[in-house]
Amino acid sequence: MNINEFKLERYFAIHEFSAKYLLSPSDCESLTMQELIEKADQESLDLWNNLKLGYTESKGHPLLREEIAKLYNHTSAEDVITIVPEEGIFITMHALLEQGDHVIIIDPAYQSLVEIPRAIGCSITNWRVEERSQKWHLDLEYLEKNINTDTKMIVLNFPHNPTGYLPTIEEFHRIIEIARQHDLYLFSDEMYWLLDHQEGTGLPAAADAYKKGISLFGLSKTFSLPGLRLGWLATREDELLKKISVLKDYTTICGSAPSEILAIMALRQKEDILKANKDRIRENLAAARSFFTKRDNLFTWLEPRGGSTAFVRLNPKYDVEELCENIVQEKSIMIVPGGIFDYAGNYFRIGLGRNDFKTILHELEEYFDQLA
Ligand SMILES: Cc1ncc(COP(=O)(O)O)c(C=O)c1O
Repeated sequence: MNINEFKLERYFAIHEFSAKYLLSPSDCESLTMQELIEKADQESLDLWNNLKLGYTESKGHPLLREEIAKLYNHTSAEDVITIVPEEGIFITMHALLEQGDHVIIIDPAYQSLVEIPRAIGCSITNWRVEERSQKWHLDLEYLEKNINTDTKMIVLNFPHNPTGYLPTIEEFHRIIEIARQHDLYLFSDEMYWLLDHQEGTGLPAAADAYKKGISLFGLSKTFSLPGLRLGWLATREDELLKKISVLKDYTTICGSAPSEILAIMALRQKEDILKANKDRIRENLAAARSFFTKRDNLFTWLEPRGGSTAFVRLNPKYDVEELCENIVQEKSIMIVPGGIFDYAGNYFRIGLGRNDFKTILHELEEYFDQLA
């Protein structure tokens, strides 16, 4: 397989465990075992205490798949297979795509969404989330115009990492309509699902909204549990699910037994976990908005509408790669520059889900004020 290095993952590998502070993580503050267990219901505690550390069912623990299915309206436990989120991208792309297929992919993208189709030999159209009048924008006409007879799939990621772009519900349905008219698969990376910033702006899952929709979700971001390495694919396309199962036998075979039980516990605490994360994101968002708009000679603030990240534009007088390098060297604060997403334009990502976000902004005040 001829595949390029995953730039974001390599960047994190250098700095994540050596820098004192991280300004750009995309996950929300991780839960501790104690926090999760403390609020667990009796049935999951019994499952935990009596857990045998054997192999698990390949599609995922039946009780876990039942809990997962409760998140969806038209998608049942039978339509779900558990995977590691990143594995879900790898497997689905391999299950559906062949050399010569054309795929339209949101851009910038979490790299595997574009890199795996490229490595398979697909032709790719980058569908750019772009800045228009200081707002993130995605052009639906561009999508329609670029569909051709080889187009097999559209790849979405809403709420979008890194911009925090979220279409309106009407726009989302329009995308589905376009996919339906052309009989295309819709791979919808929903890793930041349910993290909408304003009530009533959240989107339905693609698996619920469209028969050829495939939803990827998991516990890494919205549920504060990236260390469980637990996610799932949901789709009502039975044949596709079978193909995915076949491929999973060559990757992980089945999930981790302790993670499955901890995942059941977490899903049953959904309301509490979601509230804590949304409250923290809103608080950090207000701090970020104030910090960056106050320094509008250096930055352009682009309001995110969902998820746990934002993409800030740096004045072109300064080079963003150089700035991030200097800051990690001088202040031990890691910031991810936009080039890591192969996205030109002097942007950097900030992560809004962590407890120390405001402390890091405070640490940066003097640095930026001297720069200006
Ligand atoms: C959009 C998107 N999809 C998939 C993933 C992969 O999730 P995980 O790291 O839990 O495998 C990430 C992680 O950052 C992501 O941002």
